[in-house]
Amino acid sequence: MKTSQVKGFYKMNVTERQDIIKDFADLTEEDLTLLNTADALTLESADHMVENVISRIQIPMGVATNLMVNGKDYFVPMATEEPSVIAASSNAAKFVRSKGGVFASNSGSFMIAQMQVIGVKNPYYIKTVLLEHKEEILAFANEQDPVLVSFGGGAQDIEIRVLDSRLGPMIVVHLIVNTKDAMGANAVNTMVEALSPMIENLTGGTVYLKILSNLADKRIVRARAIASKEALGGEKVVDAIICAGEFANVDPYRAATNNKGIMNGISAVVLATGNDTRAIEAGAHAYAARFGTYTSLTKWEKTEEGDLSGSIEMPMAVGLVGGATATHPVAKLAVKILGVKTAAELGEVIVAIGLVQNLAAIKALATEGIQKGHMALHARNIAINAGAPKELIDKVAAEMVAMKKVRVDVAREIIEGLLK
Ligand code: MEV
Repeated sequence: MKTSQVKGFYKMNVTERQDIIKDFADLTEEDLTLLNTADALTLESADHMVENVISRIQIPMGVATNLMVNGKDYFVPMATEEPSVIAASSNAAKFVRSKGGVFASNSGSFMIAQMQVIGVKNPYYIKTVLLEHKEEILAFANEQDPVLVSFGGGAQDIEIRVLDSRLGPMIVVHLIVNTKDAMGANAVNTMVEALSPMIENLTGGTVYLKILSNLADKRIVRARAIASKEALGGEKVVDAIICAGEFANVDPYRAATNNKGIMNGISAVVLATGNDTRAIEAGAHAYAARFGTYTSLTKWEKTEEGDLSGSIEMPMAVGLVGGATATHPVAKLAVKILGVKTAAELGEVIVAIGLVQNLAAIKALATEGIQKGHMALHARNIAINAGAPKELIDKVAAEMVAMKKVRVDVAREIIEGLLK
């Protein structure tokens, strides 16, 4: 049975870590070469991806360890410039392992595409007309994407909303499309653009905007996990975490920071797999405010046994086909390392990371504070920067932390002293 629980993974050098990932994910020699290639995304490819290209920017990609979702182990590629994020996910994934890891489920890959219809005098009457023509609307939408339909996806439903606005009533048509393993933006936008004349005919109004909604609340992923009180360091820690979670439930100022922490984990995986970080961020924050007050995406409670139970629910519009996921060589490799077979499975792993990321953050905040762990990791980096030999890195880092002076010059002095 393959496991992502590897003792001392963070202490290994890059090559040792790559060897473990190679075995775990059956990487080829070419894959390894790609991991080591500074120019993995060539300037030429970059020039085909976006406009006015002059260079590329590199972001570190690590893997979170210890994560088990629905009984399967994952090494989770995370691309982030922020220290502590990957360590935090790995650490908290360990807290929930003895209780089976994270359990996740999804609502299916249904995207909403919107059409804004204005200039209709009797919108409620026209709403009924539109619903009568549902099958015709769906059939025409599906003619736009026979490939998606052949994979079992396609437009499956419509919803009609009538909204009041300063400019008068607006009809908003929602086309609900099963986008399967695609994020689906292109597919659904094509459909609603094509439908526009038909909707104008049926309503007598004018169709203005035709675009997907990032509030992808029909593409929801839920995850849950239990961390035993023993794993966390006692029932007091459980209570402290619940108290910290409650702060984010009731205060939007805290909720924003709490959810930023969740997105530290989520966006790192979204980016590593070549998905659209802004789409996911927009969906997450809009969902967190769906009841009118911005709140936490996670909920932390206590079980009968005094253990900590956590849950999260949020939109997760990620894909495996199309976009950078299919074209960026490192993103493709990240998907291979993850070993996910469907976009829904990818979404479940991503949301699982969000849950454990939040656990790590609020556990630290509710106990020792965030800076201690952060400084310890930062100190290792400084020790390495100062040229500490492998066997001295931890010692140099520990001394700097004890001195509360985490600086390159201090690290150099310590190294000199130790090498004398
Ligand atoms: C820092 O990037 C993220 C945290 O602020 C998250 C949180 O406060 O929950 C530590």
